[in-house]
Amino acid sequence: SEPVKSVCVVGAGYVGGPTAAVLALYHPSITVEVLDRDPRRIQQWQSPHLPVHESGLETVVRTVRDGADMAGDEGLTDPLSVQKRGRNLFFTCDTATIARADIVFMAVNTPTKTFGVGAGCATNMTAFDSAMREVAAHAKPGAIIVEKSTVPGGTAERVRKMLSTYRPGVPFEVLSNPEFLAEGCAIDNLTAPDRVLIGSAGTPSGRRAARTLANLYEAWVPSSKILQTNSWSSELAKLVANAMLAQRISSINSISAICEKTGAEVDQVAHAIGLDARIGPQFLKAGLGFGGSCFRKDIASLAYLAESLGLDDVAHYWRQVNVMNERQRDRFSRKVIDCFERNLVGRKLAILGFAFKKNTGDTRESLAVDVIRQLLEERPAEIAIFDPYCRPEDILREIMSVAPEAVHNEVVKISSDPYLACSQAHAVLVVTDCDQFRNTRPKKKRATTQSVLFPQKSPAWAPAHDLLCHETTLERETWTHDGVSYQLNAQDACSPNCSDCRTTCDRPSVTEQVEWTRIAYNMLEPRWVFDGRGQLDAAELEKLGVRVDTVGRRTA
Ligand code: UDX
Repeated sequence: SEPVKSVCVVGAGYVGGPTAAVLALYHPSITVEVLDRDPRRIQQWQSPHLPVHESGLETVVRTVRDGADMAGDEGLTDPLSVQKRGRNLFFTCDTATIARADIVFMAVNTPTKTFGVGAGCATNMTAFDSAMREVAAHAKPGAIIVEKSTVPGGTAERVRKMLSTYRPGVPFEVLSNPEFLAEGCAIDNLTAPDRVLIGSAGTPSGRRAARTLANLYEAWVPSSKILQTNSWSSELAKLVANAMLAQRISSINSISAICEKTGAEVDQVAHAIGLDARIGPQFLKAGLGFGGSCFRKDIASLAYLAESLGLDDVAHYWRQVNVMNERQRDRFSRKVIDCFERNLVGRKLAILGFAFKKNTGDTRESLAVDVIRQLLEERPAEIAIFDPYCRPEDILREIMSVAPEAVHNEVVKISSDPYLACSQAHAVLVVTDCDQFRNTRPKKKRATTQSVLFPQKSPAWAPAHDLLCHETTLERETWTHDGVSYQLNAQDACSPNCSDCRTTCDRPSVTEQVEWTRIAYNMLEPRWVFDGRGQLDAAELEKLGVRVDTVGRRTA
């Protein structure tokens, strides 16, 4: 296949930024340029404070953008490639970069359409299409255009037609290569993906293009994990992967509603069924439902596709996953209101957590915002919010969009201190699955991901230096290179600025686990704690003299 010298990634967001950085890391000889029309966004990527926070991302960006020593400067057996590597990741607003690229990745946002035909379910392709027009205008003949963004099925075909209209007679190839990044572990997902999916037109030149892209990934992904399909399958598989994951959450949440009316406990049920190897334990945690920018949107898009194909039953089936998801918050808010005998007037409520899940500051499709909106209808005196990762302005923006007057009247307050937020509160609601909010020590998870960034093919660098030290939970690792066996204990190596790995840990500045004794001490009657994520030990909490209500368990 063709040698690749230059890659352009269009869209400097959650997907484009990390994807470009990892590509640049594994291909020091390829120039990777990230293009975005928002100069502020580009400036942030060029600064020390990246607009996306992902564990390990900063280290990778420092290496490829600044040419920084990833590994430090002493005691390396073969320091050449690490220390003297040039810079090969750049951020720019200049569309001229498209013309240089052998491969153009499309990673612009594709939210749900909020207006016109298909509002609320179809995909808004405005950003994608306008970026695509730039690409069509500038791309060099023979360039490979890759869809990274989640797009409606059939988009690759549409893009092929669009290119032949704009640039008749000029050869281009269009591939679908959807991302499967989950927020908070994007770098792990990129460096050790479960699979890489590449969809092509299936023509000889399409397959050649797919081969070129597969070669790029093979620098660090085993070829057995790289799948080639037609572009429709690839586009659809992306939607279906998210729909199936979300469906599991809605299924278990529907059971949590039954549990709340019976003596069953949803976590016990989930554990029992998860041991069936055919079902498996993941994505069975009942809670307030799924948030985040993908699941709801992708299900809407899948249902819209089914409907547009005349498959109303199929559309209805999948829509129900979203319906069930919304009900979960309704039921939770209703529980809170009922526990106060339907009168929240004069009460102070504290909300712990606002992001859509733990370890991220992303407030899009926050679950908390629905709960807060519903509680505000009961006119409480105050709702105080604490989240260890979210920026106050992001929280306020989300609440402004549903209840602006509550922000203006200062009924809603953001606190940077969990104890202040909970002080004098009549109830505390835990709405994010952050470990910081648990009242028991989180179980040490077994090492599932290896944070070793460089592939086995790498030269004989000391392994400790190959490790991005953000994974504190890795157990002892051993491996051999050129007959020398290396052993590494990540736990030893991983203190901030540790001398062993000579790189700064970029763990987010997280607060310690909250002290529930302190919270309970300062609460007011009736002292309710509502556990929306089913992660607190209720019996332990009750010893502190509070009343506890948990999703998926009958109210005591
Ligand atoms: C998801 C997919 O995991 C990823 O593969 C895809 O590329 C993008 O969408 P993300 O939205 O970042 O990633 O988060 P994820 O960890 O999947 O969680 C989604 C939501 O479901 C969160 O609100 C989470 O708290 C919730 N969830 C997850 C549950 O309520 N129960 C579970 O068992 C798992």
